[in-house]
Amino acid sequence: MSNQRVSRRQFLNYTLTGVGGFMAAGMLMPMVRFAIDPVLKAEAGGDFITTGTAEDEITDVPTRVDFTFEQVDAWYTSEVTQTAWVYKDGSGKIVALSPTCKHLGCTVNWEGNPDEPEHFFCPCHNGLYEKSGKNVPGTPPTAPLDMFEARVSDDGILQLGPVVPNTIVK
Ligand code: FES
Repeated sequence: MSNQRVSRRQFLNYTLTGVGGFMAAGMLMPMVRFAIDPVLKAEAGGDFITTGTAEDEITDVPTRVDFTFEQVDAWYTSEVTQTAWVYKDGSGKIVALSPTCKHLGCTVNWEGNPDEPEHFFCPCHNGLYEKSGKNVPGTPPTAPLDMFEARVSDDGILQLGPVVPNTIVK
């Protein structure tokens, strides 16, 4: 039998060090993960979301497309619904405009004001945009509507990606 015995003091030291280390790791791991999470998720922002709209349903008239996706924010996952105004331009290219007014962020609607046909209308301060998203001078918005990156899946369904600055307004 070994004559090396662990004293009560040593036993308490080992135990407290072990428990303390375990607790510190438990607190630090989430903090480290929280700090580097955006780096790990860098590519997620570039993901495209499949909508419920088929490419052949899209006409030259802006139509509201709602799409939902799961958003992971640290440990919290929520379901987010966004909207795009989608149409095909003269060359058949899909345009998907953001509905967020560039004045103070209200939601614009296509032909939302019967007195302003063929325009997006923002009800908050009577903002107006052309079909391309170009803001109409003399109304509060000072920049064109942003747009979603858009593509069509192999099975012909509209997919929408990140919001980018408007590229069709000259
Ligand atoms: S928020 Fe749209 S015009 Fe002011």
